[in-house]
Amino acid sequence: MSPPQAPETPLHGPGSNPDPAPLPDWRARLAERGFPGARQVPCMHGAAVLRSWGESLAAEAALRELLGRYPDDEGALRMLAKLLDEGGRSDEAVQVRRRLHLRRCRELGLSGDAAVAFLDAAETGSPPPPRADEGYVAALFDQYAEHFDEKLRGQLGYRAPECVLDAVLEVLGGRRGLDVLELGCGTGLAGVLLRPLALRLTGIDLSQGMLDRARERGIYDALVTGEITQTLTSSEGSHELIVAVDVLVYFGALEALFEQVARHLVPGGLFAFTVEKSEEPGYQLRSTGRYVHSLGYLRDCARAAGLHPRVERQHVLRTEKGEPVHGHVVVLQQQQGPLQDRLGR
Ligand SMILES: C[S@@+](CC[C@H](N)C(=O)[O-])C[C@H]1O[C@@H](n2cnc3c(N)ncnc32)[C@H](O)[C@@H]1O
Repeated sequence: MSPPQAPETPLHGPGSNPDPAPLPDWRARLAERGFPGARQVPCMHGAAVLRSWGESLAAEAALRELLGRYPDDEGALRMLAKLLDEGGRSDEAVQVRRRLHLRRCRELGLSGDAAVAFLDAAETGSPPPPRADEGYVAALFDQYAEHFDEKLRGQLGYRAPECVLDAVLEVLGGRRGLDVLELGCGTGLAGVLLRPLALRLTGIDLSQGMLDRARERGIYDALVTGEITQTLTSSEGSHELIVAVDVLVYFGALEALFEQVARHLVPGGLFAFTVEKSEEPGYQLRSTGRYVHSLGYLRDCARAAGLHPRVERQHVLRTEKGEPVHGHVVVLQQQQGPLQDRLGR
């Protein structure tokens, strides 16, 4: 895959402030305020000091000097975007963040515009695509795969698999020996918990890196590399339990997915999943690159697919930058049928 061309959007260019205020001599400002060694201070340090003094134009000058030499410097781009936002120059901040997105996609080895457009939409809140760009998701998780378990469990207090298992057990009672399909199985953190319920356990995921880790666990009967909706649409077969833990956060619109899940559930079969919670109607794409969903929207999608709510519960699923991430944990049931008794009411 060839890397994309270097970003061409100039930091003062089309769409940016057409008549930017002249930037002050930032080293002179530091010196005037008696900052020790003002003339030798590195740009980033100078920018941070000036910003903390509320001298945003001087801080901007320091950052632009650094970006003149290193146009893709991540720290400088991030701080500049914040400064521009703080100064009410959000159009210019969007352009700066676009350079961060180009940089990120280049790091992930992604060419083409789709992934950049997805990250741009996440940042600006412009109408989001129905789901995350496939290439972006696969590359992101290929890159994460090696450290995923340690990061999620060790650093982010990831509890979504346990939350889903508790909710499923509540509906199943003592029933076991199920045919289980896990959507977006990743490295198998949830699969480990699901295995004791399963006669057969199948995982689907886009990321080969994540699937390689899952395979090492030796808990899956089959692992399928593919996009979830496409794989379900093009396959047959029924399952008693379908699970999606921390996966629907990469989907906005859920109608098509729920429809396919319903098609692959035996009568009375269960669909258990987590989403991150939105207080607004429908779904939104956040700057994290993940979608959030309202409970009302989940209920609408479930009703349209003929799935009935058995458990609806809120949990802290993990943390993000030290803050709790609140989510919905939901178990839906395929319309009543002959297996209803087996799976419990
Ligand atoms: C945050 S991880 C969660 C993994 C696992 N379910 C767990 O709880 O540890 C999300 C996984 O979903 C996969 N994924 C996201 N969107 C997907 C899609 N449209 N099709 C297939 N896999 C997808 C990613 O590759 C990633 O492995």
